Amino acid sequence: MLVTGAAGMLGSQVLLCVPDGTEVCGTDLQEAPGVDAPGVDLADPEQVARLFRDHGPFRGVIHTAAYTAVDRAEEEEELALRVNGEACGVLAAECAKTDVPLVLVSTDFVFDGAGTRPYRPDDAVGPVSAYGRTKLAGERAATAAHPGGTRIVRTQWLYGPRGKHFPGTMLALAKDRDELRVVADQKGSPTSTLELAPALWAVLERGEAGVYHAACEGEATWHDFATATLEFAGVEDVTVHPCTTAEYPTPAKRPAYSVLDCSRLTELRGKPLAPWREALSTYLGTSTDS
Ligand SMILES: NC(=O)c1ccc[n+]([C@@H]2O[C@H](COP(=O)([O-])OP(=O)(O)OC[C@H]3O[C@@H](n4cnc5c(N)ncnc54)[C@H](OP(=O)(O)O)[C@@H]3O)[C@@H](O)[C@H]2O)c1
Repeated sequence: MLVTGAAGMLGSQVLLCVPDGTEVCGTDLQEAPGVDAPGVDLADPEQVARLFRDHGPFRGVIHTAAYTAVDRAEEEEELALRVNGEACGVLAAECAKTDVPLVLVSTDFVFDGAGTRPYRPDDAVGPVSAYGRTKLAGERAATAAHPGGTRIVRTQWLYGPRGKHFPGTMLALAKDRDELRVVADQKGSPTSTLELAPALWAVLERGEAGVYHAACEGEATWHDFATATLEFAGVEDVTVHPCTTAEYPTPAKRPAYSVLDCSRLTELRGKPLAPWREALSTYLGTSTDS
C-alpha cells in the first residue's frame, strides 16, 4: 500500500495503524524519516510515475498529502491547484492502470456552509475559498481518471499527535494569557486523527467508489472546542470569550456550518467515529467518565 503525506498530521497517524500483514510505503514532499520511499513532489507527474515504477506495484493508495495552508491558498491558488487538484488526477490514473483503490482525503470546505442540517455526500457543493475549490478539483480529477476505484473521504477540524492544530494553539496561548476570544458562529465537528486514521484503512479495504463523510460524532463551535480543550487539559484560570467571525476576519472565508452526515461510513464500519468530546479527552490523555 502507498500512503502519501507520511510526515503530515493525518498521514503519520495512518502509518501508525497499518492493518496486520499489510506492507506499506510512505512518502512525503521531503523524505520521511523511517519510511521506505524517497521524497516525492506529487505535483510533478514524472516523479509520481517514477514512484509507482520504482516502489510499486501498490495494492491501494491512501492519499493524505495536500497543500493545506488555507489562508495562503487565497494568494497561491495556482500552486494549490497543482497539488490538491491536478496531482489527484495523476495519482488516480496510476491507480487505474492496475485497477487498485484510491482513498482521497478531502474536506468540508467543498460546501458553502449555508446548510442547516448535516451535509450528505451527495449534497450540492459550492466552495467559498481557494483551498475548497482546489480540493473539489482534486475530487473531480480523481473520479474522472479512476471512476470505479476512487473513494473520497471528506473530513474536518483535524487534530492529533503530530503537527499544528487548534487544541495545540489554544493550549499554547493559554500559557501566556488569562483571556481568549474564540469564534462561536461556525459549527463543525472536531475530529481526532486517532479516530480517522483506522477509518481510512476500512474505506480502502472494504469501501466502494464514491464519497464518504468522516468526522467525530456531534457538533461544536470553535468556542466549544476551545473550552473543552482547556477543561480536559485541566487549565482553570483562563476565560474563553465567544466572538463572531466578523470580529476575527481571515483571508479565506470558512463555511459557517459544515457538520457532516457520516452515516455511509458508519454503515461500512458498523460504528461511528467517537463523539468529539470523548475523542478530545482521549487525545488529551484524560477521561470524561468521572
Ligand atoms: N487539517 C485539517 O483540519 C483538515 C480538514 C479537512 C481535510 N483535511 C485534509 O486532510 C489531509 C491531511 O491533512 P493534514 O492536516 O494532515 O495536512 P498536513 O499536516 O499539512 O500534511 C500534508 C502533507 O502533504 C505534504 N505535501 C504538500 N505538498 C506536497 C506535494 N506537492 N507533494 C507531496 N507531498 C506534499 C506536506 O509536506 P510539507 O509540510 O513539506 O508541505 C505535508 O507533510 C489533506 O488532504 C487535507 O486537505 C485536513
